[in-house]
Amino acid sequence: MKISEFDLVIKNGLVIDPAIGFGNEADIFIKEGKIARVGKDGGSKKDSANIPPDKIIDASGKLVVPGLIDMHVHLREPGREDEETIITGCQAAAAGGFTSVCCMPNTTPTIDNQETVKFVLSRAEMADANVYVVGAITKGIKGEELAEIGDLVNAGAVAISDDGNYLQNPELMRRALEYAQMFNIPIISHAEDRFLSASGVMNESYQSTRLGLKGSPAVAEEIAVLRDIRLCAFTGGRVHIAHISTAGAVRAVRLAKAEGINVTAEVTPHHFSLTDEEIGKEFNTSLRVNPPVRTQKDVETVIEGLLDGTIDCISSDHAPHAEEEKDVEFDQAPPGLIGLETTLGLVKTKLIDRGYLSWADALSKMTINPARILKLPGGTLEIGKKADITIIDPEKKWTVRRENFRSKSKNSPFIGWKLSGRIGFTILNGRVVYRA
Ligand code: DOR
Repeated sequence: MKISEFDLVIKNGLVIDPAIGFGNEADIFIKEGKIARVGKDGGSKKDSANIPPDKIIDASGKLVVPGLIDMHVHLREPGREDEETIITGCQAAAAGGFTSVCCMPNTTPTIDNQETVKFVLSRAEMADANVYVVGAITKGIKGEELAEIGDLVNAGAVAISDDGNYLQNPELMRRALEYAQMFNIPIISHAEDRFLSASGVMNESYQSTRLGLKGSPAVAEEIAVLRDIRLCAFTGGRVHIAHISTAGAVRAVRLAKAEGINVTAEVTPHHFSLTDEEIGKEFNTSLRVNPPVRTQKDVETVIEGLLDGTIDCISSDHAPHAEEEKDVEFDQAPPGLIGLETTLGLVKTKLIDRGYLSWADALSKMTINPARILKLPGGTLEIGKKADITIIDPEKKWTVRRENFRSKSKNSPFIGWKLSGRIGFTILNGRVVYRA
């Protein structure tokens, strides 16, 4: 075998592919955008010497893993291109090690018809990540009339969700679950009973009372999760609980899984890294997010949920907001924070370094698990697959800096944090789209 036959060779890395239980030092050979070979047979020194240096990546001491998948991001296009575009959002994804992202439909106009799905997918053709579209459940995500779900799927939608506008009407949710089943797609539920959360701007707790801010109680999420689980059992449909944040919601999903109900769940880095005690320190509006960051007990319980498999995925819920909109009183700020570029560092620092998760377990929640839930093509390094690959410098320490974000928006509560674990390279379809 001549290594000069290949377009790119990643040598000497520790290759981890949780989908097939692989974790060994190996070289990866890429040809025509695909993984052509994985093995420990890097060719002769003479052969290597003939290869231009940009065709070889020396990954000694690094982890070489399937391109990360973030199944929950907001790319803001169409409508709020001042906050993010598909191009800039995917640049942020690449910098965060993500080769695939799934974008939510709460754009302007809403992604509730074929044309908007096609618009997003066509814009994404030139982007530095694969973009998959989550269509709306209801027209205009207003919760009144179902969108044409078949049309959305035919145009390419991989799931449906009304995102932050929880579909409050249980009868419509039942119909949506029945339709979604016909296309074998899940409904992604931002589980939040909006009567209970009302105008809450942070977790309802001792802290909200102390700060005089209107709280959103944990039970608003828990009731919504329980309703969706029961409707899921009743219809035989599939629900994926987005950004789970409360202990009670984790317990509900655990029990539902034990009952054999088709429910899956994700957690965000902010929900396993932050508590509501942070808010009173500086009233940093980047901490205003839905669902809100909760209590230490909730953080501990979501981590238990990650450990025992109750929580399948780690997603960023990347939600860019314009500076002028966040530069207001805490309770006036729109909810959301950017996360694509800090997710891997927070997973390493908060979950792996503390001994909760192994690299393989953590990576499965950012690769093969979301791929399986949404039936996406990536998530593994099998031969013949598209060469979507992330190279991680596992012990590299770095500080989150505002000026380094690729995202158009800067609303991160993690600015100034020291993290461990940094993206070295992101490779999309055999092309290097990010290099540290
Ligand atoms: O905090 C949030 N921001 N939660 C959501 O559900 C929506 C998101 C956004 O789009 O800004």
